[in-house]
Amino acid sequence: MPTPHPPVYLDNAATSFPKPEAVATVMDRLLRTTALSPGRAAHAFSLAASREIFAARERLAAFFGCPDSSRLIFTANVTEALNVGLFGLLRKGGHVIATSLEHNSVMRPLRHLEREGHISLSLLPASPAGETDPAELAKARRSDTRLIVINHVSNVTGTMAPLAELAALKGDALLVVDGAQSAGVFDLDVTALGIDFFAFTGHKGLLGPTGTGGFVLGQGVELPPFKMGGTGSASEFELQPDFAPDCYEAGTPNTLGIAGLAAGVAFIQETGLATIRQHELALADRFLDGLSQINGVTVYGLPAGGQRGAVVSFRLAGKGVDEVAYRLDRDFGIMVRAGLHCAPAAHRSLGTFPEGTVRASFGFCNTMAEVEYCLDALARIAGA
Ligand code: ALA
Repeated sequence: MPTPHPPVYLDNAATSFPKPEAVATVMDRLLRTTALSPGRAAHAFSLAASREIFAARERLAAFFGCPDSSRLIFTANVTEALNVGLFGLLRKGGHVIATSLEHNSVMRPLRHLEREGHISLSLLPASPAGETDPAELAKARRSDTRLIVINHVSNVTGTMAPLAELAALKGDALLVVDGAQSAGVFDLDVTALGIDFFAFTGHKGLLGPTGTGGFVLGQGVELPPFKMGGTGSASEFELQPDFAPDCYEAGTPNTLGIAGLAAGVAFIQETGLATIRQHELALADRFLDGLSQINGVTVYGLPAGGQRGAVVSFRLAGKGVDEVAYRLDRDFGIMVRAGLHCAPAAHRSLGTFPEGTVRASFGFCNTMAEVEYCLDALARIAGA
């Protein structure tokens, strides 16, 4: 009997796993040693919780190049952040431009606003590898273009948008960037790029727990609060305070998760963003090279060495994507994600709708041996 292989997790684009030990350590310590309600009282436990939130806000603001940490707002995830941004910034309507690679966390709010008659929407065409040409943005711009949404790194193909070139073309429009797959992987300075609203999630590249995320609001960008309630500040007033971050963060926050997120970012800073990225891209590049040696494989996205993150989408001729993912899991203990990845628009533009693709996404803890094992498993499935 062959020795069973330990499980191999290749679904880091959904959520990164495992997390750095420090994330678990800090969350365990805080849960056991202090109450987690910040800003509501002056006792020691409340102050300890406030310090965790403050330190996390400062760390993440600096990490994203946001000079005023009060404009870094915590939310439950990137979907919530994007909903806050899109519904809030588009309350007066207008023309909106988005890429063809958008996830449903962007596409569904935009399609809803379009159907309700609040906005008109233009999608930039993508190349077969999921690339967005800045010239298309220049063509799509109109005098009433109010907002441009850019998917920074596709969760389907891993293709990275040329953000600096696209940002340079924003003109008077507001620039919203979905950093779900890029935060914690690529260097990003929201101020230098002139990003008006940057949305991130905590549980992917930033290596924090689920239930964390947020946004950075550019200087001078006005956004109404999206929920109202207790903030622990200005409690004598029955109206929501008008200062950030309090105006956006009503309700007891996810102190535990936010502290875990800060530990994830600290791990990235200590290890080095470039070190993590180079490791993940080396795995993805070897995987892409190996796939090209397997009969019947079609890859959707850029080849090895392209402007991409460590997310690889593919199909095996004659095999359904669900079948491939199921057999990888059942027979080899390899976890990938198959289907539309909550991004039907991206699959439409790649020509892979409605079946989708098999997606393998690599993280810092994956090894080259795991990549070889997965390639071997795929060769067996392809040959079977
Ligand atoms: N959007 C996440 C993914 O691509 C959940 O899997």
